[in-house]
Amino acid sequence: MLIKKITTNYKQTQKLGEKMAKEVLALRQAQDKNNSAVVFGLQGNLGGGKTTFLQGFSKGLGIKEKILSPTFVILKHFKITKSQIPNPKSQTNSKFQILNSKFTDFYHIDCYRLKNEKDILALMGFSAKGGPASGWKKIIENPKNIIAIEWPEKIKRILPKNIIYIKFTCPEQSRRVDKNKREIKIKI
Ligand SMILES: Nc1ncnc2c1ncn2[C@@H]1O[C@H](COP(=O)(O)OP(=O)(O)O)[C@@H](O)[C@H]1O
Ligand SMILES: [Mg+2]
Repeated sequence: MLIKKITTNYKQTQKLGEKMAKEVLALRQAQDKNNSAVVFGLQGNLGGGKTTFLQGFSKGLGIKEKILSPTFVILKHFKITKSQIPNPKSQTNSKFQILNSKFTDFYHIDCYRLKNEKDILALMGFSAKGGPASGWKKIIENPKNIIAIEWPEKIKRILPKNIIYIKFTCPEQSRRVDKNKREIKIKI
């Protein structure tokens, strides 16, 4: 299934991210056998809105801490705790309650500065016991994790098969270029 959305300002992109966090994960939960992490790959040029989307996405997961464009940070880890469950009046909250019992950790990874897979494996491996790839493997295999990866093409050889791709583009306008317009395609 391909979902195609157009946003005309950054707030709409954040809102879309927030909605996605609740809805796609609920769908994924219903489909999956839940034996691995839920992984999103965010593709698109610099300024495409990937980090902006993730700001809303993390809010949708109930994370209070603000997501920043990680210029130098490659990996940021956030805890999803029950005390952070969003507004109970929210429409999708019944689904979200279920989700929240399942997911405990959110990872935001920005591969822009990485050369290839080796870089991320080394980065993860150093903080984990048992060999260079074990940190990455643990994170990717843990069904309690949600992982969002910017520039996933840089590490394509180690991405899971069931990754959900989200593509960000600035659509060309025939008459004028609207610099605040973004096309966001989600393949589930
Ligand atoms: N419709 C829109 N959606 C997302 N960002 C937008 C939009 N219109 C303008 N912007 C701006 O574009 C920039 C997107 O930056 P960012 O989310 O960091 O992109 P990326 O992570 O893809 O490099 C921000 O400065 C944001 O305010
Ligand atoms: Mg970014």
